[in-house]
Amino acid sequence: MRLPEHVGIIMDGNGRWATSRGLPRVLGHRAGAEAVRRIVEASREAGVRYLTLYAFSWENWDRPSQEIQELMGLLDEFIQRELERLLANRIQLRVIGRIHELPTGVLANLRSAAAQTAANDGMTLTLALSYGGRQEIVDAARRLAEQVQQGLLQPDQIDEERLRQALYAPDLPDPDLIIRTSGEQRLSNFLLWQSSYAELYVTPKFWPDFTKDDLVEALVEFERRERRFGRTSAVSAAPSSTPRG
Ligand code: IPE
Ligand code: IPE
Ligand code: MG
Repeated sequence: MRLPEHVGIIMDGNGRWATSRGLPRVLGHRAGAEAVRRIVEASREAGVRYLTLYAFSWENWDRPSQEIQELMGLLDEFIQRELERLLANRIQLRVIGRIHELPTGVLANLRSAAAQTAANDGMTLTLALSYGGRQEIVDAARRLAEQVQQGLLQPDQIDEERLRQALYAPDLPDPDLIIRTSGEQRLSNFLLWQSSYAELYVTPKFWPDFTKDDLVEALVEFERRERRFGRTSAVSAAPSSTPRG
């Protein structure tokens, strides 16, 4: 099977899952955390190398403060409870986003889990937290501007590769497949730079209902897609961004 090396998931629909059952939204987020555990394991078993989960967008800070607090509480609980399993399955945990905006306790636990799993080579699990694709590009532009100001970089040296290097996790390959649950056909500011040639897969299922079989279905669909990267026929891997000559 031709697997995507990097899968990104926009985990949407926790609120609707809860509301449709007459439950408070927080219980949807709790069920969503269970789905995360399940899908991390299923991805690892399937042989996915990189899994990136959109867990909290930069725009999600505009939600009611009670919901934000509940989400941060669940996140903290999740990291503490999952660390052992991540270690046992040799999964490396990483985080992308404006993470300095997270509550200090949560951030400390995330950093500690990332450090303890840094040498793991089974799969890389990246959590996008306080993350926005536009914010990431703005942050990259600032870093490059600083390098120019310090005389370390000439403006005409800025190319795709330099900009990519200034993103949050430049060593991760671009996502091959982006899955979105709950039917919405939009990226909602997820990995804007990196997703330029990602295959998109939308399922109507709410995130808490997303199962291992649903993941496998998405992987099978990915295998059927013909990726062209602007060429006239199928290309097996993304062309490099080195200058044409
Ligand atoms: C996704 O579920 C989780 C986060 C965005 C944090 P939602 O909370 O967006 O659920 P819906 O879209 O309102 O159903
Ligand atoms: C996207 O879901 C963000 C995450 C899944 C973390 P949203 O629910 O925030 O997206 P919109 O508002 O429907 O676009
Ligand atoms: Mg939503």
